[in-house]
Amino acid sequence: MKPLIFINFKHYENATGRNAELLLNEFRKIKDQKNIYYCLGPGDLRLSLEFPDLNIYSQHVDYNGYGPYTGSISMNFLKSINVNGSLLNHSEKRLEIDDIRKTIEYSKSHDFKLVVCAENIDEIKSISKLRPDYIAYEPRELIGGDISVSNAKPDIIRSASVICSGNDVKLLVGAGIKTENDIKASINLGASGVLIASGVIKDPKPINKLISLTGNITG
Ligand code: G3P
Repeated sequence: MKPLIFINFKHYENATGRNAELLLNEFRKIKDQKNIYYCLGPGDLRLSLEFPDLNIYSQHVDYNGYGPYTGSISMNFLKSINVNGSLLNHSEKRLEIDDIRKTIEYSKSHDFKLVVCAENIDEIKSISKLRPDYIAYEPRELIGGDISVSNAKPDIIRSASVICSGNDVKLLVGAGIKTENDIKASINLGASGVLIASGVIKDPKPINKLISLTGNITG
């Protein structure tokens, strides 16, 4: 099975607003999109209606429906615009464990996928008991840097993969992933896929970089 690849657009200037649309248009050239997920910021999520052929996820979601919830990103609303999954508890958007639990419970009754981020093995243990679809191990200190999680933390990835498979949760890893070798190493250590931000988005040619990582393009 192909590795799952989540591209986090974060709030980079070249990946928000009109630029997010331009990037998605480029990324659309990749023929097989089944294993690729694009995590957009809240202001750009409606692009999912213009790009129904791409898997578009949110970077955060709240466990409420419609109503008096000022500023929230409602799961029900996301589903209505064809966004069927989200990151949660990213290092740059941390939550209390009780809110993580409530969001996971809400997601299960709304057929919504969650990629719940964890910074260390203790968090992986407690979050995996809540059985989200995915846990993404991202050590905070490596995010945005040049040392990949697969090089720096192989033992933690191995342990995390045992903990996750024991709870029927798929493991993803992220931070500093920039090359096909980083992805291969992550898979060999037991991950099902990776999260990448700067390695693609900050590349001078993001589409070429993503093609080099996914290895296919429309003829
Ligand atoms: O969500 C992915 C992200 O936090 C990893 O960032 O820039 O190290 O690929 P980066």
